[in-house]
Amino acid sequence: MLTKVHTGLDPVPGIWWKPAHKAEKVWVGIAFAWCMVLFAMMPLWHWRGGQNPSGVRRRVDPKAFYARTVAFATQYKVGEDRGLPIVAPPPGADVYLVGMTFQWYPILKLQVGKQYLLHLSSLDVNHGFSLFPLSVNFQVVPGFDYGLRVTPTAAGDFRIICNEFCGIGHHTMVGRVIVVDEAGKTVSVNDTATIRSGGPR
Ligand code: CUA
Repeated sequence: MLTKVHTGLDPVPGIWWKPAHKAEKVWVGIAFAWCMVLFAMMPLWHWRGGQNPSGVRRRVDPKAFYARTVAFATQYKVGEDRGLPIVAPPPGADVYLVGMTFQWYPILKLQVGKQYLLHLSSLDVNHGFSLFPLSVNFQVVPGFDYGLRVTPTAAGDFRIICNEFCGIGHHTMVGRVIVVDEAGKTVSVNDTATIRSGGPR
């Protein structure tokens, strides 16, 4: 004899679920409203936050970019640190920095308050440009020239930390940016130091 079973083909009779408690409805409503606020922040912050880099991006042959960087380093070389050239381009110049496993080339020496067009690219794999101890962070992608208008706002001796895992020597990939003041001096890095992007084009 067959027992009557519920097959799922027929609707369950009556109200089998308990209506939500008022407090639950209120909290779901609050959570939903907050989701909408966060959702709206994404496009809003794109326009209002001023955190989006301005600059030029174009495709480039990695080897050609590297050759351009070497030529730039040779042209404006003012010294050397552990085999790496220290390069001091004039204000307003196009500045080239290339990431490769596992170093940043060359060492840049910039002047505070002067604008430069910083070209970033990679010779081999993805690297991450993170300027320590500041909050400056960019992807460095092979095949793309990432041109950023930058104006150093504080003198200091900064480090470039690679923050994109790029291989066995990733943790040793540390570069250097020296920012000197009007007197040509580097003061110690302070907490308020910032580098701002040059603003929209
Ligand atoms: Cu380059 Cu990690």
